[in-house]
Amino acid sequence: MNFVGHHILTVDQFDRADIQRVFKVADSMIPYANRERVTRVLEGAILGNMFFEPSTRTRVSFGCAWNLLGGEVRETTGIKASALAKGESFYDTARVLSGYSDAIVMRHEMMGSVAEFAAASRVPVINGGDGANEHPSQALLDLYTIDRELKHNGKRIDQMTIALVGDLRFGRAVHSLCKLLSLYTSIKFRLISPEALALPASYIESIQAAGHEVIQTSNLQEGISKADIVYVTRTQEERFDSPEEALRYKGLFRMNQAVYTEFCQPNTVIMHPLPRDSRAEANELDNDLNDNPNLAIFRQTDNGVVIRMALFALILDVVDQVDASSRPVNWYTARRF
Ligand code: NCD
Repeated sequence: MNFVGHHILTVDQFDRADIQRVFKVADSMIPYANRERVTRVLEGAILGNMFFEPSTRTRVSFGCAWNLLGGEVRETTGIKASALAKGESFYDTARVLSGYSDAIVMRHEMMGSVAEFAAASRVPVINGGDGANEHPSQALLDLYTIDRELKHNGKRIDQMTIALVGDLRFGRAVHSLCKLLSLYTSIKFRLISPEALALPASYIESIQAAGHEVIQTSNLQEGISKADIVYVTRTQEERFDSPEEALRYKGLFRMNQAVYTEFCQPNTVIMHPLPRDSRAEANELDNDLNDNPNLAIFRQTDNGVVIRMALFALILDVVDQVDASSRPVNWYTARRF
């Protein structure tokens, strides 16, 4: 795809060459994310960071990514603090905000909302999550992490086994990731969920149509036993009709060190888009894994910064100018990568 000036609304926009391009640009951002160098390439540019649904890492890492390229960030958090609460349409909001910004990232609880907003925007819009639909930048950072972790273990994405655990019905990160993985070859998908939270049929059909193997199970131990990657998710309680209904599914699958030791292969990589639900009734990914070197969750969050920097640099067509307007940092820095 041509990135310059384009919205990023769904991972359907990408082919394998596009993904490689994003990853290569992301690699070139490591010295900046790692605070070895500073660049001012987006000096004077403004990001509209519009989060109408709760967010910590997506919102802050998009903002940091823009800042690390030298730009300024203006942000709105929560519906109540915006004119959407007064009945303003996505059309009007997009016309207004795109007059103030050079790019916009938007998150909203409604499926298709970001596409509707983007249609009226005069600047490129990135989907930061639209309801249970998609989360393209999360899928890219997850895939980038999978690629790096597997390479470290002498493996590749093609032919790997991945176990996806939890709320596969409402989890938009899983939806986008499954579509991206479908672009690779002969992956073995182990979909571990209660029946009511199974991955929607349309996703399963397109995974199978792309030649991958899918096994659905509600048995955690069986599902994770041959996995190279175990990708755990939280029950998306905000998408259920009632909190009581969501509670039925919490705590059904719990990854912890004892389960890992007994059932996983050595070096199985554990991932989670975060936030993990650490409350006792859920606790799908236990803190006792925090010192397990195969726990990749905080490498995922670090990788989110370089992936989002890459998306901005590609969309705003500054990839070749990043290094030219850079210098070494002159403060104490802790290494991240
Ligand atoms: C995910 C999301 O918002 O879809 N979080 C994130 O962006 N890292 C997953 C989740 O909320 O469970």
